[in-house]
Amino acid sequence: MDFKNSVPDRIQEIKNTVGEEKAISALSGGVDSSACTVLAHRALGENLKSIFIDDGLMREGEPQEVQQIFGDLGIKVDIVEAADEFFAALAGKIDPEEKRRAFRDTFYSVFGREVKNSGARYLIQGTIAPDIIETTGGVKTQHNILEQIGIDPEAGYGYKVVEPIKDLFKPGVRVVAEAVGLPEEIHQRMPFPGPGLATRVVGDVTPERVARVRRATVIVEEEILHLKPFQAFAVLLSDMATGVQDGKRKFGDIVIVRSVESKDAMTAEATHVPWDVLNKIAARIVTEIPEVVRVAYELTPKPPATIEYI
Ligand code: XMP
Repeated sequence: MDFKNSVPDRIQEIKNTVGEEKAISALSGGVDSSACTVLAHRALGENLKSIFIDDGLMREGEPQEVQQIFGDLGIKVDIVEAADEFFAALAGKIDPEEKRRAFRDTFYSVFGREVKNSGARYLIQGTIAPDIIETTGGVKTQHNILEQIGIDPEAGYGYKVVEPIKDLFKPGVRVVAEAVGLPEEIHQRMPFPGPGLATRVVGDVTPERVARVRRATVIVEEEILHLKPFQAFAVLLSDMATGVQDGKRKFGDIVIVRSVESKDAMTAEATHVPWDVLNKIAARIVTEIPEVVRVAYELTPKPPATIEYI
């Protein structure tokens, strides 16, 4: 497929589907939802309302950065503060699928409310091909795949979902994103999962534990991104271990550093990160995040592991 030349058809299809109605774009700042938002903005102009849900599970400074980038493109993005709702829904949930369902239900109820308040009838979403393949294949519960698994979003949540890039894999999405004028920072952005840092906190997803993994993520990104991995991030385990800090034994957190190479996220292998880079990451994490006493680098490919931890 000629991805670049598919842009006008994608815009036309959004126009045909939505007509003169209003639509909302569920923007997260990832390449998928960013490409969709620009496509939809071109199709619908003022009839598109772009919303960034701040679920409290994003990386450091992400909501404001995304708002700024789209503002520079002439697309106004409203930030909806919903962290409390997401943390309340996730509270006490340990099972990965229960967490994903809690995230998905909260996501839809927050957006459903926004859609109703705005008078929009359509929700533009950046679902892509692997999301559909893995959800229908039972590998995981995605937050954005209701129709493919037989749930009717209009009956359950009160709006229709439009998925303008659901036929594409990541490389195709990047071409489309560049073709619609998004900056490199977005079209080459690492994938970041819909449920955000919740996929990287094993066990209880509390604001404190998310803050810890967020700080570790800043360090991993600062030290590894020059290697241009497909994805690199930190994970907080629920197990704890003994370490030594200031000459005293201390029972503390374990952080996993995960960096993978992949084409489309269907398979992946660990990045060959130089030893000195790994050492620096480990040293920074235990120094800058005192709750952490151990850092490990993960080597497992996908399969049998997945890229994320829930
Ligand atoms: P896994 O962990 O299944 O991830 O190997 C494969 C790719 O998908 C991303 N991912 C998600 N993206 N919503 C998303 O939009 C999700 O719920 C989700 N879960 C995982 C993950 O970051 C990787 O790129």
